[in-house]
Amino acid sequence: MNRRYRKTIIAGNWKMNKTASETKQFAEELKAIMPKAKWCDVLVCVPSVNIPTAMRAFKDMRVSVGAENVFYEKSGAYTGEVSADMLKDLGVKYVIIGHSERRQYFGETDITVNKKVHAALEAGLHPIICVGESLEQRELGVTMDLISLQVKSALAGVSSDKLRKCVIAYEPVWAIGTGKTATPEQAGEVCTFIRATIRHMYGARIARSITIQYGGSMNPGNAAELLAQPDIDGGLIGGAALKSDQFVDIINAANQE
Ligand code: 13P
Repeated sequence: MNRRYRKTIIAGNWKMNKTASETKQFAEELKAIMPKAKWCDVLVCVPSVNIPTAMRAFKDMRVSVGAENVFYEKSGAYTGEVSADMLKDLGVKYVIIGHSERRQYFGETDITVNKKVHAALEAGLHPIICVGESLEQRELGVTMDLISLQVKSALAGVSSDKLRKCVIAYEPVWAIGTGKTATPEQAGEVCTFIRATIRHMYGARIARSITIQYGGSMNPGNAAELLAQPDIDGGLIGGAALKSDQFVDIINAANQE
């Protein structure tokens, strides 16, 4: 983390978990134990159908509600999809784009990720852009090439002004939901590389101000070490964000003065 230049953001990604009733219950549990998160922003990204419930449930806490996906067209005959304007109108601030599960199961590509980033920015949302290599790619030694391609494709055509609204999340696919966390050094190395890539594209001042999260089996036991890396400015947390006590432990790890 480097709070002098950029925000630390602890974000839950609930994926396809929790009903509306369970969302309310989680918010109540969280309210009872939520620390004053002075040093970091806290966010929960929930299934789109539960956004209005989450908005109400988290209203009195300093917890933002985000979305897990968005479609890139503004409106029209796209049965089942949700537009950026619809999210914005509900009060959503952040939207996850290009999560590896969407790339793997729903045909998301670097091209659709780029279109979605533009659509989100156009509507005034903050995209959380996910990038990350598979185990095979890591073993082939092409991690940095792939990350560079994903970052450059996602940000193609994005102006410096708009880039300030973007968050990048480095999520190695092999660490997601597996309990296998990247070591702080491995995660830190890629996050530093992402910042260097942005520096080449946009210059040092902007690169310095961008929040880069790590995601992949982050939990109360490893959060502090990961967040101690200079270029890791927060976490995108799956499993551990579904339990209020674990989520709070991670917030506390990020909230040290
Ligand atoms: P886990 O924390 O369950 O590994 O999930 C990480 C993730 O995919 C967050 O987007």
